[in-house]
Amino acid sequence: LIHWHRSLESTNSTARLLAAGGADEGAVVVAESQSAGRGRLGRSWDSPSGVNLYFSLVLRPQLPPGRIPQLTLLLAVALHRALTLLDGELRPAIKWPNDILVGGRKLSGILCEMQSEADRAHFVVAGIGINVNQAGFEGELDGTATSLRMETGRTISRPALLASVLNHLEPLYDRWQQEEDDLRFVQKELEDNAFLQGRTVSVERMHGTLEGTVTGIAPTGELIITTPDGTPCRVASGEARLRK
Ligand code: BTN
Repeated sequence: LIHWHRSLESTNSTARLLAAGGADEGAVVVAESQSAGRGRLGRSWDSPSGVNLYFSLVLRPQLPPGRIPQLTLLLAVALHRALTLLDGELRPAIKWPNDILVGGRKLSGILCEMQSEADRAHFVVAGIGINVNQAGFEGELDGTATSLRMETGRTISRPALLASVLNHLEPLYDRWQQEEDDLRFVQKELEDNAFLQGRTVSVERMHGTLEGTVTGIAPTGELIITTPDGTPCRVASGEARLRK
């Protein structure tokens, strides 16, 4: 079921309410604009009206909570496939854990929010923002964000792109729920299209900063960073900053 709205504060918030009210898995909330679109780590998501895609899915994965963070990368694979099919020259890259970049600029972001109160069935709201037909960006987004229109010179059908993302996600999601071995079935695709692969990054962790070269993505979805002394370290969450 697709719920379409002209304007919402955040499709993630509306989807969360629907899910808490018992909405079936697969419900989709779409908005033409958002007044309080959210990004990861407390950031906001710029959501001008009528040009881009902002949507959230209600999912009820039958998996232990520890595997839920893998969903972000699974969505990234679905997005990557849909975008590659849309335009073979686009060459989108997956920036662990939740961005799709083109030419080093952000095209799309994913925000998964999990609800896991002990007395209720847990659910996940998976929010996706894609810059589709936006003509340009201002301020701090100028130079760091991009859109499909800016990259391809074409106006892209938003309903067709939404349908394509959902159609690519469905078989991936089903397979993921049946897999014993986490994300191994898409590990090569994640690594081959990883923006950070082979780059030097730093990640803030509880015990300080970890610095090293990204050498892979583990089947669990963790980022593998190999430190200068050759030790591979796994990072489960956070943000990897590129070092020059
Ligand atoms: C990020 O890159 O930090 C994640 C951005 C996620 C934005 C989408 S737009 C639809 C959904 N509703 C929100 O409020 N956020 C997500």
